[in-house]
Amino acid sequence: MKLNFQALSKQLGSQLVLRGIDAEFSPLQCLALIGPSGSGKSTLLRLLAGLDTPDTGAILIDDRPLPTRERALRKHRARLGIVFQAYNLFPHLSALENITLPLERVHRFRKSAAEQIALETLERFQLAAHAHKKPAALSGGQQQRVAIARAVACKPDLLLLDEPTSALDPEMTSEVLDLLLQLRSEGRPMVIVTHSMGFARKAADAVAFLADGQILEHGPAEALFSAPKTQALRDFLDKVLRY
Ligand SMILES: Nc1ncnc2c1ncn2[C@@H]1O[C@H](COP(=O)(O)OP(=O)(O)OP(=O)(O)O)[C@@H](O)[C@H]1O
Ligand SMILES: [Mg+2]
Repeated sequence: MKLNFQALSKQLGSQLVLRGIDAEFSPLQCLALIGPSGSGKSTLLRLLAGLDTPDTGAILIDDRPLPTRERALRKHRARLGIVFQAYNLFPHLSALENITLPLERVHRFRKSAAEQIALETLERFQLAAHAHKKPAALSGGQQQRVAIARAVACKPDLLLLDEPTSALDPEMTSEVLDLLLQLRSEGRPMVIVTHSMGFARKAADAVAFLADGQILEHGPAEALFSAPKTQALRDFLDKVLRY
């Protein structure tokens, strides 16, 4: 898969949140978006997810621009797996039902087929024992793993994750990051907004550093971390790696 951002801009309220994002990731494998709070990471991910549309510019996947009409956007979203920071699961449904619901409603699987896929997916991520628990009966790490299992159950073309571990303690964070490493090794393209520089360095093929609505640097993870080109990235890394 190939991903291009072309002259993307987005204004939210009175603020120009994205100011001309230009970058190409080819082949797109595991891309980590890093940068200070408020730099526009979530906004960029929402545009890529088709949850919002840019004011100018375009996003191209395999040289085809993302649509802007709602009907076509819905089709685009159905090809994605999306996981946010927290509160991903429906609280009144079991882990299993959380996974079967979109398979039935969005992907039109019959109930029995959806259940089979959901059980296989839970098993694959060592979550089968929790299939019938509701989210409140799961740890935060288990909830996020179920959310990721749900996102990949439909075999999405692309997985998008926005700080999937930021609400978790360190032990649960590693559980979730291990699962993402497993997915990465299976070769599923993903874009992850992360505060975990360790994960970005270990798992990401490419890293993009956003600051103030622009991608200031992007490239192979190792190059970015060991030889940042901009003062802004040096300052950012100094700050986040200090503790
Ligand atoms: N709906 C909105 N209306 C107005 N401004 C918004 C809206 N959503 C986000 N913003 C502003 O856009 C900027 C970028 O927000 P965004 O959520 O993309 O940042 P971020 O990089 O994901 O930050 P964080 O690391 O804190 O999640 C912020 O200054 C934010 O206040
Ligand atoms: Mg964010």
